[in-house]
Amino acid sequence: MKILFVTAEAYPFASTGGLAGVTGSLPVALERIGHTVSLIMPFYRDIKNLDNYDWIGDQFLTSAGEKFGLAQTVLPGSNVSVYLISKDEYFDRPGIYGPDDASAYQDNAGRFSFFSRAIASFQENLKETPDILHCHDWQTGLVPAYIRSFRKPAVVFTVHNMRYQGNYPPEEFSFTFLPWSLFTIDGLEYFGTFSFLKSGIVFSDQITTVSTSYAKEIQTPAFGESMDGIFRKRSGSLTGILNGIDYEIWNPSTDPAIEASYSANAIGPRKICRNELIRQHNLERNPDGMIVGIVSRLTEQKGLDLLFPIVGKLIQEGLNFVILGTGEKRYMEKFKELSKKNPGRISVTLDYDEEMARSIFAGCDLFIMPSRFEPCGLAQMMAMRYGAVPLVRKTGGLADTVIDERDNGFGFVFDNADPDELLRTVLRARGLFGNRRKWTWLVKRCMKQDNSWSSRAEQYVKVYRKAVETRRRR
Ligand code: GLC
Repeated sequence: MKILFVTAEAYPFASTGGLAGVTGSLPVALERIGHTVSLIMPFYRDIKNLDNYDWIGDQFLTSAGEKFGLAQTVLPGSNVSVYLISKDEYFDRPGIYGPDDASAYQDNAGRFSFFSRAIASFQENLKETPDILHCHDWQTGLVPAYIRSFRKPAVVFTVHNMRYQGNYPPEEFSFTFLPWSLFTIDGLEYFGTFSFLKSGIVFSDQITTVSTSYAKEIQTPAFGESMDGIFRKRSGSLTGILNGIDYEIWNPSTDPAIEASYSANAIGPRKICRNELIRQHNLERNPDGMIVGIVSRLTEQKGLDLLFPIVGKLIQEGLNFVILGTGEKRYMEKFKELSKKNPGRISVTLDYDEEMARSIFAGCDLFIMPSRFEPCGLAQMMAMRYGAVPLVRKTGGLADTVIDERDNGFGFVFDNADPDELLRTVLRARGLFGNRRKWTWLVKRCMKQDNSWSSRAEQYVKVYRKAVETRRRR
């Protein structure tokens, strides 16, 4: 099939988190199983600075008559063409959604509705119309509305996180150039605003989200972020497919960013990576002390505040922490304070640093993700691949990828977003950590889990076929 990925971010060109990880690797996985895949995204200033692209031209027009330019490059390690939509007034500025992680540009409704219009006309100008437009998250939610009356392509819309919806006041509706007849409850209208995300859900042929548990959860009020009703209406067209990670890129036996190479069958050298982690972060050397790793966006979603009331106790119990992440100020300040108060015990790096992330996955013993909700989660898969045993809250993709050792699994799972439960579970892990043979067995089992894209890419192909069928029957 011919598939065009539509996204506001893709690794390595522009990334704020998991979304870019998926849009930067799933196309390659689909290409490996024989499909023709390309991707289209905005030409942000930071990409322009990279300089390794070909300029196609600036003569392109949206249906509303707006001019735009186009550049082209490829996804590293593949033949996936990446088209970059150039429009300086919207994209030649710092960052993606705002100048930094914490703030959003005032004209995002204008920027991303323009982006979506540009895509609608771009795909018409291709020599061959793609079979599928695969759109990701709210930023691309208007694309299916723009092409709602086209016979081709079919649209698959993937929700990576319900929390981000792109809802804007009616005064900004004119930016979309859509008819007011769509500003209704069956269209984009959403509690008096209009919603990019809702548009994506309502007008696509098929919808997916990034785990089977999350696909169920978002049909309930607790996780649906007030859109559960819309999902229940479309539940027949909604499929949960777990994300994967690229097992070539995330591979402890070839990764140049880590201190030593190892694999599930030759695990010995992992110790070298652990020692290196201790050295780099100036942790106290305590042979029995378990090292807890955290690599995360620091937002409410991730549940890291559950640690605050219990971290003192865990330090007393001999655990050390290596924490890497950036995000909301309140969390960054609290973690900085904790590291200042506990030198040699808690190392905090407030940054997004992939090399350091790799060294944490390779060196820590226990990797924790106490998320309040987690559509899929990628870090737990990376951690397992590198032999860090995951401890997670039972939600979304975490529930689908980690099985508790008590249930014959290979990790630690707790049910409620409650500090005491988290404490008990970490201490349970620490208990097993004391049993070297059992722990090594857990580490190996984690490393043997298959979270690669291979089987999951096939599941997308099935959804693509369904979408083509749905569109044909319209
Ligand atoms: C979002 C979700 C995360 C998911 C990622 C990729 O970042 O919060 O759970 O893994 O998207 O789908």
